[in-house]
Amino acid sequence: MSKKILGLSFGRKMGNCEVMVKQALNACKEAGHEIRFIRVNDLDIQDCTGCISCVVSMIMGKSGKCHLKDECHILDDAIMDCDAMIVACPTFEMGPTGTFRTVCDRFGPSHDLSFRKVAIEEGLAAGKDPANLPDQRCLKKRVAALISVGGAMTRNWIAFTLPTMFALPMTMGFDVVDTYEYWGAMAYNNVVGNEPVMERMTKLGQNIADAVVCEDDGERMRWRGDHEGACPVCHCNLLTLSDDKKSIECPVCGTYGSFTVEDGKLIPHFSEEQIARSRLYYPGKLEHSTEIKTCAAPPGQIPDLKERLAPYRWE
Ligand SMILES: Cc1cc2nc3c(=O)[nH]c(=O)nc-3n(C[C@H](O)[C@H](O)[C@H](O)COP(=O)(O)O)c2cc1C
Repeated sequence: MSKKILGLSFGRKMGNCEVMVKQALNACKEAGHEIRFIRVNDLDIQDCTGCISCVVSMIMGKSGKCHLKDECHILDDAIMDCDAMIVACPTFEMGPTGTFRTVCDRFGPSHDLSFRKVAIEEGLAAGKDPANLPDQRCLKKRVAALISVGGAMTRNWIAFTLPTMFALPMTMGFDVVDTYEYWGAMAYNNVVGNEPVMERMTKLGQNIADAVVCEDDGERMRWRGDHEGACPVCHCNLLTLSDDKKSIECPVCGTYGSFTVEDGKLIPHFSEEQIARSRLYYPGKLEHSTEIKTCAAPPGQIPDLKERLAPYRWE
């Protein structure tokens, strides 16, 4: 069964990211899927202004559409249309590029599956016109693969790129089934000359081609990467330590865990309960959207707000 696979590069034209994504897409095409590639930096995508009208609109049972007029709709339509996504981003200053972060913001709360799903289900039940609700293609079960790239010779120079990249598939509920961190890129003029990495990209494409056709949820979401990592959900190696140094947290998933030291190795432990509330899964997203819907202060909470703010109204 042919599926639609979208490749996104946040790198330079014909740079490492673009070549790696296209290599993976070629493997998807080989497997019989329809492919599409977008060089995101070619699009005019404005920064989110933080107005939160998208979230307020969805809470009111409307579409959640952004008011900004730019080319983000091209990316939005491509992402909504696809069944799987392969995303590659360069490392700029230890993390993803500014454009990547901008795209995450524009596909953040406005595209959060738990906000959208509730607005769609309640809206349809109330007999609303589907055209005035969030894009219903968001409900498709989809998979993704993430690729981070850095020129530096040491892995710690790309430390935040892959973990931060989860923000994009996370909000929309794409299940990430493979990731790859390519560091030391500047040792080659272009990744095309690095055969092991190009072969790994073929494998990454095959992993997506394989996962995207799975009917069974468990098999579709099955981790296909070549490392287990510290977290059993996102498979990243980044952990934070609690202030009392007794517990750990996966900053990607927002889950709490403990650790033991065995044979000099730090072994992380995450309970089934914590794993189930990872924000990469629907219950974790729902926990967050419910917290916002129930805890956000309503207008009028501070009756003399205008007077209190007056001393701060200067440029
Ligand atoms: C502004 C800037 C900052 C960068 N910072 C890092 C960095 O912190 N770590 C790293 O490994 N590479 C860094 N690089 C190198 C890029 O990640 C590398 O050139 C990458 O291949 C670019 O992706 P592309 O080839 O797809 O365009 C930086 C490059 C630029 C332009």
